[in-house]
Amino acid sequence: DSGRIVVVGSTNADLIVRTQRHPRPGETLLGEDLDTLPGGKGANQAVAAARLGAAVQFVGAVGRDAFAAVARDGLRAAGVDVSALAEVEGPTGTAIITVDAAGENSIVVVPGANGAVDAARVEQARETVAAADVVVLQGEIPAAGSEAAARACTGRLMLNLAPVIAVDPAVLRRADPLVVNEHEAARAAEMLGAVDAAASPVAADAVPDAVAPDAVERGVVERLLAAGVPSVVLTVGPRGAWIGVGSAEPTRVPAPGVDAVDTTGAGDAFVGALAAGLVRGEALADAARRAVQVGAFAVGRRGAQPSYPAAEDPLPGD
Ligand code: RIB
Ligand code: NA
Repeated sequence: DSGRIVVVGSTNADLIVRTQRHPRPGETLLGEDLDTLPGGKGANQAVAAARLGAAVQFVGAVGRDAFAAVARDGLRAAGVDVSALAEVEGPTGTAIITVDAAGENSIVVVPGANGAVDAARVEQARETVAAADVVVLQGEIPAAGSEAAARACTGRLMLNLAPVIAVDPAVLRRADPLVVNEHEAARAAEMLGAVDAAASPVAADAVPDAVAPDAVERGVVERLLAAGVPSVVLTVGPRGAWIGVGSAEPTRVPAPGVDAVDTTGAGDAFVGALAAGLVRGEALADAARRAVQVGAFAVGRRGAQPSYPAAEDPLPGD
């Protein structure tokens, strides 16, 4: 019997418009079609893990509006336990998303009810969080909510610092793994007080363009590990992900090549799949190998949650 994942995080309704290209400031474009789909980084990660067969519970909040059902139904349809999903006054979290012809998105999130997932609300779910084998956090609820979840967590803590929020560095030092892209990694390093000499503007100018990305990325992982993060997963888009654990040499897991249709929520598919692997007892590198394939699967399909594979779906690169 494998363990239980608890995701403490955000749930949104995603309003997704497809356009040829992103609008410039002050410009009006005609979009192609509008989808209203369940999203939110926390809910997406919960759904991704549940679709792969993990037992998942979600701690979060929706508002009192029509989008609450969109958000709740996305979780339910994937089999996520929503008994700790609160309903609060005001609007459900909403994301306005534009996806261009290359599948790249730009997103503006209005947090709405996610703002109510604060320390007091997470305290109400303390026993649920404490009983989890893996607790998964992101950056779309108030930092105090994530900090309370980290305090309540007695199992393995995963933190996806997306978007970047200022959390107590003690939470970063418990993240096993901390899952970040390069921008988020730089901000996490700052919060940990880990200064990178090579990243000063002068030094950056002096770095030739041809410098091996491997060396730069490995250095980013090593800096976070040296600052006391137990394990690090650095996502590097189509190049896959770096895995760093303790003092072992970081390694990179390459991603299979796919034609991007919609990158929305692909990072969340990765995090959810990683959690599903870890809760089954897989080593971080093994879980990451599968997670990059799950992320690639999601990149090839529209939307966030509707683009996630079930356990039996063949994955790119298999
Ligand atoms: O990571 C993708 C998600 O970010 C979307 O589903 C949107 O809701 C925003 O939270
Ligand atoms: Na997608």
